[in-house]
Amino acid sequence: MKILLTGSNGQVGWELARTLLPLGEVIALNREQANFTNLDELRRIIEDISPTVIVNAAAYTAVDKAESERDLAFLINAQAVAVLAEEAKKQNALLIHYSTDYVFDGTKSTPYDEDDIPNPLSVYGESKLAGERAIQASGADYLIFRTTWVFAARGQNFVNSILRLASEREELNIVADQIGAPTWARFIAEATAHIIRQAESERKTENFISGIYNLTSAGETSWHGFAEEIVKMARQQNRELKNRLLNPIPTTAYPTPAKRPSNSRLSTQRLMGRFTLVMPNWVETLRLCVNAD
Ligand SMILES: NC(=O)c1ccc[n+]([C@@H]2O[C@H](COP(=O)([O-])OP(=O)(O)OC[C@H]3O[C@@H](n4cnc5c(N)ncnc54)[C@H](OP(=O)(O)O)[C@@H]3O)[C@@H](O)[C@H]2O)c1
Repeated sequence: MKILLTGSNGQVGWELARTLLPLGEVIALNREQANFTNLDELRRIIEDISPTVIVNAAAYTAVDKAESERDLAFLINAQAVAVLAEEAKKQNALLIHYSTDYVFDGTKSTPYDEDDIPNPLSVYGESKLAGERAIQASGADYLIFRTTWVFAARGQNFVNSILRLASEREELNIVADQIGAPTWARFIAEATAHIIRQAESERKTENFISGIYNLTSAGETSWHGFAEEIVKMARQQNRELKNRLLNPIPTTAYPTPAKRPSNSRLSTQRLMGRFTLVMPNWVETLRLCVNAD
C-alpha cells in the first residue's frame, strides 16, 4: 500500500506519520512540501506519487482567525480538499479526511449522529463543511472522520495552553457551558490505521462503502472539566503550578470572534459498529498523553 499523508506536522498528522508505517510505504508531506494554497502544484504532487491511499491531516484550523481570513480558510479546507478528492477519484485511491463538530450549531440536546443536518456557526465550520461536500460530490472512495477537541503532547492545543497558563497565573477563568469529548491525536491516528486496513481489504473485494463517521473519545466534559483534569494530572506528576483556582465561566463571559457550538458531543455508534472499534474514555487518553515520552 502506498500512502500519501498531507499535513504531517500537525497534531494528528505527526501521529499518523508514525502509526501508518506498518501499513506500507508512507510519503509524509508537511506544509512546505505540499502547500494547499497552490492547487496546481498539489495536483502535480499527487499525480507524481500516485498513491493507493491519501490521508489528509492538513487543515486551516485557526478557528477565530478564519472569521477574517475566509478566502484562505476555504482555499485550504474546501478547494484544496476538492483537488485531493478529484485526484483520488482519477487514481482510484481511498481518501481519508478529517472534519469537525463545528459543522453543527450545537443546539441539539443529545449527541449528534452522522445524519444530523449541519448548520455551522463559524467560517471555519462552513469551510470544513464545504470540504466534506466536495469529497462527497467527487465520486471517490472516501472516509470522513468528524472529531472534536483534539489534543496532543506537542503542538498548540488546550492541554499545553492550560499547563503553561497554570504555571504563570494564580487564577484561570474557563468556559463551563460548552460540552464535548477531548480526543487524543494518537488515538485518532491509531483508529485511522486500523480502519484503513479494513477499508483496503473491502475495496479489493468491492465491498467498500464511503461515508462520514464520528470519531471521538468516549465520555464528555466541559472545557472547565477538561482543565481541572489536566491540572490534577500535572499535580500528580509534581509539576510546578502556581494556579490554585479554576473558575467556571459562561461562554458569554469569554467573547471570541468565532461562535462555537455549546453541544459538541458526537455519537460514535456507527463507527464502532462498522469497524469493530472501542472508543477509550477521554480521561484515560489524557493520562496516557500527559505521561507519554
Ligand atoms: N484541533 C482540533 O481541536 C480539531 C477538532 C475537530 C476537528 N479537527 C480536524 O482534525 C484535523 C487535524 O487537525 P489538527 O488538530 O491535527 O490540526 P493542526 O495541528 O492545526 O494541524 C494542521 C496541519 O495543517 C497544516 N497546514 C496549514 N495550512 C496549510 C497549507 N496551506 N498547506 C498545507 N498544510 C497546511 C499545518 O501546517 P504547519 O504545521 O506548518 O502549521 C498543520 O501541520 C483537521 O482536519 C481539523 O480540521 C481538529
